Amino acid sequence: MTNKKQALVTGGNKGIGLAIAKGLAETGMAVWLGSRDRGRGEEAVAGLNAQGLDVRLLEIDVADDANVKRAIAELSSEVDALHVLINNAGIIIDTASPPSEVRMEDIKATFEVNFLAPSG
Ligand SMILES: NC(=O)c1ccc[n+]([C@@H]2O[C@H](COP(=O)([O-])OP(=O)(O)OC[C@H]3O[C@@H](n4cnc5c(N)ncnc54)[C@H](OP(=O)(O)O)[C@@H]3O)[C@@H](O)[C@H]2O)c1
Repeated sequence: MTNKKQALVTGGNKGIGLAIAKGLAETGMAVWLGSRDRGRGEEAVAGLNAQGLDVRLLEIDVADDANVKRAIAELSSEVDALHVLINNAGIIIDTASPPSEVRMEDIKATFEVNFLAPSG
């Protein structure tokens, strides 16, 4: 992977993140597919590798500072530079309730992942 441009997509195991990871790899980039769950990440990576795409797993939970530090160390040991970072990981906990009825703990958890993690 060393001669290619490197990209990391957080929350890359499904949804929009998985589509972005695929799209970047199709441009010829080496893509690190971030996933907080190893099993879900491995499954997604296997699917893209089966299509001939240069994608590898990076376990990363963006809401866990220690986990993020470990992931950065792992990535730094593998690549000289990261050229593209897609902070895609995000959660929507409660879409059914009106805003006035959403629990404060759910609002805090959403801010932690969607706002504070990409800012850190
Ligand atoms: N879909 C929409 O209409 C829409 C609209 C506006 C904005 N967005 C934003 O676009 C992004 C992707 O949306 P989506 O629809 O593809 O969502 P999705 O299908 O729910 O996928 C979210 C991804 O984020 C991961 N994730 C959640 N918390 C994480 C954490 N703490 N650390 C690392 N990964 C974490 C999930 O991992 P797990 O599989 O382990 O849960 C999953 O891979 C999100 O940030 C979302 O807020 C989406």
